[in-house]
Amino acid sequence: MPAYTVKINGKEQTVNVSEDTPLLWVLRDQLNLVGTKFGCGIGQCGACTVHINGNAVRSCSTPISVIAEKEVTTIEGLSTEGLHPVQEAWKEVDVPQCGYCQAGQIMTASAFLAKNSSPSSEEIKSAMHGNICRCAAYNRIHKAVEVAAN
Ligand code: FES
Repeated sequence: MPAYTVKINGKEQTVNVSEDTPLLWVLRDQLNLVGTKFGCGIGQCGACTVHINGNAVRSCSTPISVIAEKEVTTIEGLSTEGLHPVQEAWKEVDVPQCGYCQAGQIMTASAFLAKNSSPSSEEIKSAMHGNICRCAAYNRIHKAVEVAAN
């Protein structure tokens, strides 16, 4: 198996996996970063969203071989001190119901707000629409993104 050295949450890690191994499995099975969730496995639900070089990316459909030299951030590394403002907003609005999709939602929202700190309601809808929530907590998710933006 080839060795890949990747930078995850600011720390270089070397893993021995085949080149087509999804980043999601490296995170969860090799590095025990289980905050990133498996939902659909085919890039459709957003539960597995992480940041790669600051962009929201679906780790289930990102092979380990394409992330060399890139910075990966997971929900565990989103903030180095206390909660990230998006996580604070999630708490304030009491967003989660079952909670399963929330890490992916937060990673999508935080990457979006880093690029657009005062979005319109339509821009929030557009940015978040690919992240599925089985409990349909969409109104609270939307509200929390608004709160985090202010
Ligand atoms: Fe990756 Fe659904 S698990 S998008």
